[in-house]
Amino acid sequence: MTKRCDQVKAWQVLQQLKVEKQTLDLRNIFASQENRFEHFSLSAPHVFVDFSKCMWDEQVEDALLELAGQTDTEQLRDAMFAGELINTTEQRAVMHWLLRVPNGTRLPLGLEQSHKEVIETLERFLSFAELIRADNTITDVVNIGIGGSDLGPQMAVKALDEFVIPTKRFHFLSNIDAHESLRLFRTLKPESTLFLIASKSFSTLETMTNAALAKEWFLQAGGKHIENHFVGLTSNTKGANAFGITTTFGFWDWVGGRYSMWSSIGLSIAIAIGEDGFKSFLRGAFEMDHHFKTAGARDNLPLKLGLLDIWYRNFLNYGSRSIAPYHSGLSRLPAYLQQLEMESNGKSVDKFGLQVKYGTAPVLWGEPGTNGQHAFFQMLHQGTDVIPVEFLVVKDPSHTHVKNHELLLANALAQAQAFMIGESKDAKDLQTAPTVKVGDWASHQADSSQHAARRFPGNRPSLFFALERLTPESLGALIALSEHRTFVAGAVWGINSFDQFGVELGKKLTQNIVNQFDVEHPMNIDPSTQGLMIKLKLKSVP
Ligand code: F6P
Repeated sequence: MTKRCDQVKAWQVLQQLKVEKQTLDLRNIFASQENRFEHFSLSAPHVFVDFSKCMWDEQVEDALLELAGQTDTEQLRDAMFAGELINTTEQRAVMHWLLRVPNGTRLPLGLEQSHKEVIETLERFLSFAELIRADNTITDVVNIGIGGSDLGPQMAVKALDEFVIPTKRFHFLSNIDAHESLRLFRTLKPESTLFLIASKSFSTLETMTNAALAKEWFLQAGGKHIENHFVGLTSNTKGANAFGITTTFGFWDWVGGRYSMWSSIGLSIAIAIGEDGFKSFLRGAFEMDHHFKTAGARDNLPLKLGLLDIWYRNFLNYGSRSIAPYHSGLSRLPAYLQQLEMESNGKSVDKFGLQVKYGTAPVLWGEPGTNGQHAFFQMLHQGTDVIPVEFLVVKDPSHTHVKNHELLLANALAQAQAFMIGESKDAKDLQTAPTVKVGDWASHQADSSQHAARRFPGNRPSLFFALERLTPESLGALIALSEHRTFVAGAVWGINSFDQFGVELGKKLTQNIVNQFDVEHPMNIDPSTQGLMIKLKLKSVP
């Protein structure tokens, strides 16, 4: 039986290293290790990562690799790629990777039928995507979905703007807030709009409410033939049919919502970038899958990233990570990664149901550079918490304004450098400042606070990701990399990264509140919530 990470030897070694490495200073290790950049940078298909400004060294790296071995992380990876039921709480296989396997590839025993269905569905929704692309009467495609049925497709369509068909607009409606839907509907015409109702379950409150509103708007605005303007992307064909949808594209229970953009949930991406583009997107991810499966531990990029996450979270006690994509197309990447990591690994019991005694998923957050620099980077440079930053740059832009792009890259490099080297000039000035005479205290205070406020402590870690170009292939590889990195951290922590029971209670209580809107004495509602219901006039005053 797999041992819990905190019970294996490598964990104790890392505890010890944590104490020894308290004085680790990036500036010093760079000075003492000439080839640190070469040693700590790694390439995988389409993605290059510089780990050299991370708060670790070879000893830590070795112990982490030991930890992966002692927690059977690679065995769990192989079990996932063999189609075993590793989502133990739901007794399901975890096979989003199968969606990316090209036709004709040799498969693990027993997965041929599933793969056949994958290919058939893929071909069917790609042909549909091509039909829509060729149909000039459709100018607006609206994806209605939330969570995994929204974030991935939305992020990808934005990221791949260069490849998106110019004759159509793409919209993503997720929030149940009608301000959002009504604002969108005002810009649409029913006869030229195609709604994709994306919901694995076809029962999510937000999506069903928005879909119903879309249908109501469509009919009121004179729309005809719902069946031609509403398509279902769902595992629940019956639910979609009951809504009035006749065209549906399905997927399987072994595809988790946040891992579903490779399935028919990605139809908006396929319409946007076409059949070839979507296949390239799958190919990039498939190449990363292959790398994850076959690269040796030391050269395995997802493995290394996941292990670094363990070191940071459990030994250096970093509670959050900031994502800084230096490409405006990747502005939704932080939101996408939030669901991927925090829904997957935000757990506090292990897969045997036992409370874990160590931290799991950190908080992920971020904004595109350079905007973040002028907002919260102050806190990242000088705040009291150390928050590792992940820079992501794209070498070749898709425009010809070379100067702008060079400035963008310079900003990313300079920020990463500033986090590492800091600036101690003022501290030195302070030491050499004249002695304070009695009575000069106030002016000394002003003086020294001015010095101190200008000091940059440095020695703050960052990771640096670089893509050659932002293409369907490289984006596919980057996303698969993030999925596998999340997998690695979850595997070491011994949690099930593939369920999400934490979202259920809120859903249930929403329903309970809705049921009692007009009940005079609501049952099972705490006084605070009751008070707020009255204040918001969601129930009659008793
Ligand atoms: O509430 C969480 C969740 O179940 C996510 O995991 C999922 O991506 C999202 O809701 C949407 O679910 P569905 O695709 O079934 O509408």
